[in-house]
Amino acid sequence: MRKLLVANWKENPKTETDALRLFKDTVRTKRKDLEVVICAPFIYLGEVAAAFEKMNSVAKKNLALGAQDVFWEDLGAFTSEVGPKMIKSLGVRYVIIGHSERRKYLKETDAMINKKIKLAQKDGLNVILCVGEPLAIRKKGIAVAKNFIKNQVKNDLMGIHGGKKTKGSLTIAYEPIWAIGTGKNDSPEDALEMAAFIKDGVQKFHNMKIRFLYGGSANSKNIRDFVQYKSIDGALVGGASLKEKEFGKMIARVGGQKK
Ligand code: PGA
Repeated sequence: MRKLLVANWKENPKTETDALRLFKDTVRTKRKDLEVVICAPFIYLGEVAAAFEKMNSVAKKNLALGAQDVFWEDLGAFTSEVGPKMIKSLGVRYVIIGHSERRKYLKETDAMINKKIKLAQKDGLNVILCVGEPLAIRKKGIAVAKNFIKNQVKNDLMGIHGGKKTKGSLTIAYEPIWAIGTGKNDSPEDALEMAAFIKDGVQKFHNMKIRFLYGGSANSKNIRDFVQYKSIDGALVGGASLKEKEFGKMIARVGGQKK
């Protein structure tokens, strides 16, 4: 299966002009044998989508846009919220849901995340659900971390089953919180163990085939160590996706090119 590299720009860059420049520089790298998804902040998504639309079909190949969050209602009196249909109307195909920064700073709960996933999938967006354990849990060992992740996945996917007709796909990004933005990535072997654990669990309890991404200080130097494994389908990339040269190297390396 083609690998997937997702750029999560978070609250960056500073201006719309910078966002457009970053987008154009990023997509210059040839994308062979992988899919690249760019998740820009809402405020820039329209302009980035317009730039994407203007590209020819060859330049658009293996490229898609994503949002970093979405609300659980399509329309209504929900000040400042953005619904899945609004995002879709821009041509955006993916959405990140449940990022640990939203869980931490915005107090997003599993119940809120569950509602967001349900509507986003129903509306046809491909969901990238983020899960990950804090350091205190991981210090107790991988078995304890697995149990934490199991509960998170169970609560986030409550009532979601592959048997039902949903239009959007599901990808789970395993992002240990202690590895995000710290320069301390998880070991590829532990990520692999989590990949098998999460994929098996979702298949068993939700009857769904998912893609698995690793996230947390992924960069051009370590990315191959993760994606060499068949069950690690790619990575969710924060900091490194803001440096177009570095991200370009990641695109090339995941796609099996020399760079
Ligand atoms: P990072 O962020 O690559 O900067 O560690 C990953 C993420 O939070 O998605």
